[in-house]
Order: sequence, then structure tokens, then C-alpha cells
Amino acid sequence: MKICRTIEEMRETLANYRRAGESIGLVTTMGALHEGHIALVHAARERHARVATTIFVNPTQFGEAADLAAYPRTEAQDLEMFEAAGVDVVLLPQVDEIYPDGEETIVETTSLGNMLHGAVRPGHFRGVTTVVTKLFNIVRPDAAYFGEKDYQQLAVIRRMTGDLLFGIDIVGVPTVREADGLAMSSRNARLSPEDRDAAPVLNRALEAAQAIALPGVPVEEIARTIRDTVAAEPRARLEGLDMVDPATFRPIITGPLDGPVGIMISARFGQGDHAVLLIDQREIHP
Ligand code: PAF
Repeated sequence: MKICRTIEEMRETLANYRRAGESIGLVTTMGALHEGHIALVHAARERHARVATTIFVNPTQFGEAADLAAYPRTEAQDLEMFEAAGVDVVLLPQVDEIYPDGEETIVETTSLGNMLHGAVRPGHFRGVTTVVTKLFNIVRPDAAYFGEKDYQQLAVIRRMTGDLLFGIDIVGVPTVREADGLAMSSRNARLSPEDRDAAPVLNRALEAAQAIALPGVPVEEIARTIRDTVAAEPRARLEGLDMVDPATFRPIITGPLDGPVGIMISARFGQGDHAVLLIDQREIHP
């Protein structure tokens, strides 16, 4: 596996692949890798002669400096995992190469990126779309692979890629779960043992929603089932529950269930500075 620390090195490596007529699949990450990231690499590996990856903790998508500073950095382990998964090349750029003159030019999905999760974390998706645009321009892949767990992020990136005519295929990869249903996340390692045991309640709540999702069921009843399931776990505090039309992201709040619904939930585990916010997602189908 080739390790590139500069954009120039990365571009040279990719130019060689392109000259050989090889297709390139891209997996962008912020490191702290887990099996969910490796599933993205495997999906890319199946379709492309070359798999390119990036590890870059993107400062512009963090609201608070403390959150950015606390983000886990596990470079040596990440490189081992990528190598074992069959990655061909990884870029680990410096912040000042990605943002050479600060942040003058931004890329933003003006509506989709500022609703729901984007409304509670102002500027977050603008940071994501700006950095993903830069990474797309560096790598110019045939396709890029993103996890379905970050449901709104996937929708935002799809929309941006279409609107800006990148000509890159955006592939969503299903969430990888632990044996007890907990969605894999870099944040799981920060849970206390008791909170780790409690955390699968998010997946249970989504399963409970699917279990009652018959055509015509009031969507309010689905929301109530999710709230009741999470409330039954004393260590979890539900923070967000959004139900949307998967195609448009229009919120679905009332009325009978008449098609697929994308459900995004988030809950906090633990107290004070040690609290960990987990998210999960599922599309339910009547
Ligand atoms: O999903 C992530 O890890 C990040 O948001 C991404 C897409 C790598 C952009 O920094």
C-alpha cells in the first residue's frame, strides 16, 4: 500500500493507475477505523481495479474546538487495517494543504445541509461538502463509497455530486453492526461498559418501528414506539428523532404510512463531559 503525505504524491500515483486504464474507487475517512470503514473498502474492492482512501480529520466540519481535539487519532492502526483490507493508496494530507488560504471558497447544499442534523450542527455539512469536493478533485475517482449510517451525509453528498456534475457514482453501503445490533462507530470505544451494554437500544427501537410498519399505520404511532423503546432504557436519552421521505428528505410527521420512511435517531449515553452521542438510521418499508 502506497502512503502519500502530499497531494502531489497522491496525484502522481493515481495518474499511473489511470494511464494503465484502471478504475478507481474512493473511500474517504477521518481515521479511527472500524469494520464499518472496512466494509466500504470491500465494496470498492469488488468493483474497481484500484482502491484509494483518505485519512483526514477535517476541522471545518467540527462545531467546537474541543470536539475536534478529542477526535481519536489512531494512524498506525488505521494504516494496518487499510493494508490488510487491500487498499492500494492512502492520502494523509496536512490541514494547510487542504485549506491553504483558510476557508474562502465553500461548497454548500443550501437546503438539505441546513435541515435536521444540519440545523443542530450549523456549518457541519458545509464542512463535509467542502472537504469532499476537494478530495474528489484530488482523486477524481470513478465512484466513492459512503456509509448509510450517516444517512443525511450520504443524501447531502449525493445531491452535491449531482448538482456540481462531478460524474462520480456515489455508492451507499449498509451499516455494519456488532453482534448485538449496535451500529459500528468510532465513538463506541468511548462508552463505559454499562453504556456499551445499553447502546443497542437504538437498533432495537428501529427494529420495533419496522415491526409495526404496516401500510396505513399512523406515522405518529411509529414515532411513539421509537420513543417508548428508548425511554425503557434508563441509560439512554433520546436527542433526535427525524422521519423523512428518503427521496426528498421532506419531514414526515403525521398521516398514514404509505411508502418507505428514513428514520434517523440520536441518543446520549453517560453524563457531563463523558457523555457520548450515538446515531443510528434505518429505512422502514411498509
Ligand atoms: O464520514 C466521514 O468520516 C466524514 O464526514 C468525511 C466524509 C470523511 C468527510 O470528512
